[in-house]
Amino acid sequence: MNKTEQKHQNKITPIIGLQWGDEGKGKGVARIASSLSKKDLIVRFQGGNNAGHTIWHDSKCYVFHLIPSGVFGKAQIHLGAGMVIDPASLKDETKVIPKNVSFIPRLSVSPHAILTMPTHLLLDSVSEKTKGKKKIGSTGKGISPSYTDLTLRRALRVGDIFYPDFKKKYAALTREHINTLLTSFGHKVDVKDLKAREKRFFDGINFVKNLKIRESAQIVDEALEGGHQIIAEGAQGSLLDVRFGHFPFVTSSHTISAGVATGLGIPPEKVGPAIGIMKAYVTKVGEGPFPTELGGKRSAVWCRDKKLVDEKKKYPDPNPNSKDEMEQGVALRRLGNEIGATTGRLRRTGWIDLPLLKHAIKMNNATRLVMTKLDVINNFESIKVCTHYIIKGKKLDTIPFDLSRTEIEPVYTSFPVWKGNLSDYNGKLPKEALNYIKFLEKTLSADIIYVGTGPEEHHVVEKYW
Ligand code: GDP
Ligand code: IMO
Ligand code: MG
Repeated sequence: MNKTEQKHQNKITPIIGLQWGDEGKGKGVARIASSLSKKDLIVRFQGGNNAGHTIWHDSKCYVFHLIPSGVFGKAQIHLGAGMVIDPASLKDETKVIPKNVSFIPRLSVSPHAILTMPTHLLLDSVSEKTKGKKKIGSTGKGISPSYTDLTLRRALRVGDIFYPDFKKKYAALTREHINTLLTSFGHKVDVKDLKAREKRFFDGINFVKNLKIRESAQIVDEALEGGHQIIAEGAQGSLLDVRFGHFPFVTSSHTISAGVATGLGIPPEKVGPAIGIMKAYVTKVGEGPFPTELGGKRSAVWCRDKKLVDEKKKYPDPNPNSKDEMEQGVALRRLGNEIGATTGRLRRTGWIDLPLLKHAIKMNNATRLVMTKLDVINNFESIKVCTHYIIKGKKLDTIPFDLSRTEIEPVYTSFPVWKGNLSDYNGKLPKEALNYIKFLEKTLSADIIYVGTGPEEHHVVEKYW
């Protein structure tokens, strides 16, 4: 292949969560970013600060919500058109990055990205409260109202901030929101509180005004034509996609790899196969169906109502091999530190669900997989995998239209767990772990390119089997 042909072969690589979010996408992106050069590009294409992507850098832990997780590398970073951006949150987030890391010159924002306004946050929390038991369990970051204003064709976009009528438009939309809060939800806005929020919002707007504003499609084309690499950092997970996730327990954007094209305004042919990130088990924050949840409904209610301090009181030392599945789930949560990076909520825990994973892999064209957090299983006697569902007496490995309205009995296969810790095996994997991985690769028809054995970037075992 000559150089010109090679340039045209270049495609964006989406890095996508294959479960309900928090699979370890941040670490995956940071790892790839460390080998990228300054002309390569990392983009976010959807979502907002509902994302919480944890990375470890120089032995320090960072959680990114809007800024791409590759910020510590050399590559350009871009907040794409499909995102919703809370400017106050963006400004705050930049403050946690050490002063010696020059990233502002590498950062650009799409003029099409939607602005999350202070009243969007109020609409999110008030509407969730009024839903009571029917709530989605949103992150409370105003994501759904921000995207709602896009489809209502009245949202304010980053590009609008440079026009003289911006403040007027802002005030008009805020009035509409205040009216909705009162008439639809009976909520009277606290003026003093709103003013304080607005101060932070406009400080954030002034911050954004000084950033590079670039069309996503243009910045992508320049990188592709120059033969450079582009990583599209997914947020949330495939099962939270607004259309193809478990509606209505979803986020409000397209989290799957097809969202890369609409989220950047580029033709789908520029999007290559995805790298799918999955945990060695499954977690979920918020409401909605979860067929393989340890402890079933008990766990769902517990995680909705309790905080970590309550859990530590009731389960000071949970046994991963307890006869009680609820306790096994608590142990998994404790060992995996499965507490929401954005909300501090208890993440619900359960075993890998192959029907769901196969579905996610297909939707994203995920030809390569990363399995994170295998080390969390160290203390279990066996690792379970749901291979099929029994629905109305039939054994299936496909998923029904509506998981929450279908009686599902998961069918499990168990694999024995290795002795000791993964870190005892000198950078290799014990045969029990390899058996499990090979089984997954065969069943999922995809390559597992590395396995996570701890939270830091170097805590991985690369493919060698
Ligand atoms: P993201 O939203 O997909 O980026 O994932 P989160 O950052 O919300 O959650 C993943 C958590 O697992 C973070 O605390 C990571 O530091 C941690 N993590 C990632 N990979 C591994 C791993 O292989 N082993 C362990 N023990 N922790 C990991
Ligand atoms: P990362 O990128 C896990 C969940 C919320 C809720 C639903 C809707 O860190 O993987 P929203 O605030 O988007 O309207 O909430 O989606 N959710 C996430 N769960 N990880 C995330 O992001 C999530 N972002 C949203 O808990 O159930
Ligand atoms: Mg997360």
